[in-house]
Amino acid sequence: MSRLLQDAASNAAETESAPPEITRSATSAELTIVVPTFNERDNVELLIARLDTALHGIEWEVLYVDDDSPDGTAAKVRELAQTDPRIRCLQRIGRRGLSTAVIEGMLASSAPYLAVIDADLQHDESLLPQMLATIKAEHLDVVIGSRHVAGGGVGDWDRSRVKISGFAARLAQLIVAADLTDPMSGFFMLSRPAFERAVRRLSGQGFKILLDLFASTTIPYQFKEIPYVFGRRQHGESKLDSLVVWEYLMLLLDKLVGRYVPVRFVFFAAIGSSGVVVHFLTLYFALKAVEFPVAQALATVVAMTTNFALNNMLTYRDRRLVGRRFVTGLVSFYAVCSLGAVANVGIASAAFAHHYTWWLSGLAGAAVGVVWNYAVSSVFTWHRK
Ligand code: GDD
Ligand code: MN
Repeated sequence: MSRLLQDAASNAAETESAPPEITRSATSAELTIVVPTFNERDNVELLIARLDTALHGIEWEVLYVDDDSPDGTAAKVRELAQTDPRIRCLQRIGRRGLSTAVIEGMLASSAPYLAVIDADLQHDESLLPQMLATIKAEHLDVVIGSRHVAGGGVGDWDRSRVKISGFAARLAQLIVAADLTDPMSGFFMLSRPAFERAVRRLSGQGFKILLDLFASTTIPYQFKEIPYVFGRRQHGESKLDSLVVWEYLMLLLDKLVGRYVPVRFVFFAAIGSSGVVVHFLTLYFALKAVEFPVAQALATVVAMTTNFALNNMLTYRDRRLVGRRFVTGLVSFYAVCSLGAVANVGIASAAFAHHYTWWLSGLAGAAVGVVWNYAVSSVFTWHRK
């Protein structure tokens, strides 16, 4: 230890027995607003200006979590951050997903309160101070912006979206006991201890981070809902497509059975079974034109290819391969499945040789094949970057 440090240490020991107190400096944030983004460049400046107005008198920071948007959202955020230390950017490469973006944003913050808001100005940022005041004054875990309590609304949604959203909300009761009017809300605030109670159990699947938190917390949350009206998107377009239904299903399944069997495996196996149908349809039609061995080979390739495409779109939606990586992924998938087929036939033949019935032997082979394909393709084809 240097002389200086020794002096400082003995001085401290003499003058005070209590541990040194850490006081919050004027610039450390009390509230971190996490904003998940994908292609939102033109909304960045506007949202930050509005936050600045709305949060006057509060120590806040905004943390954009951007999934490497091709439109340059991250660069725009960093450009503004050059002159404003309250602005931060977390850029993720080779990843997609609203929920995981929010989770990682919260993990990258040190503030005692955390809020989530969409980048596209559809949520009402002017409610943030009221949310913060409420969560503090009433010692709550979560305050939620809800479109379905008196005073809230969904704006100009068409009838079918309202219906689907209502149905999805009822399904949510499968995994959450709390009586939430708007479990799909992407606009809420929570305390750090509340976040920490759920963080290790979160599924991270899909869009529904609020629901995920409520389904994962070890102790039920004390919460309150505040009405807001869902606004119109300013620039860019919605990333919610028809596949969000699928992602939602994955979240529900994960919370229901994920403890026993990975949801990805359930989907992988289901898609694998659909491959059998594709195989026989192709074989049936190909036989009208070519010899059996050629038809069978063709059917095998077609089934593997559709399996790959479906798994890429659904099972591994968050790691989906595009462009050149789609092609190399497909080749690696062919390789994995070919070895899987060898294992399948080997096991089935061995079982059959040991006098198991034909169908049990076949089943054993197929089971080994699908587990192999799943395990190895998750490492070689859809590996995490
Ligand atoms: N980092 C990251 N990664 N951000 C994403 C991704 C992604 O893969 N996909 C979408 N986002 C960001 C968008 O850029 C936007 O800031 C926010 O997440 C919401 O996405 P939108 O595409 O605007 O969704 P929406 O307006 O249709 O849906 C909103 O309302 C729903 C209510 O029905 C969201 O708040 C949903 O969470 C909410 O359920
Ligand atoms: Mn939106």
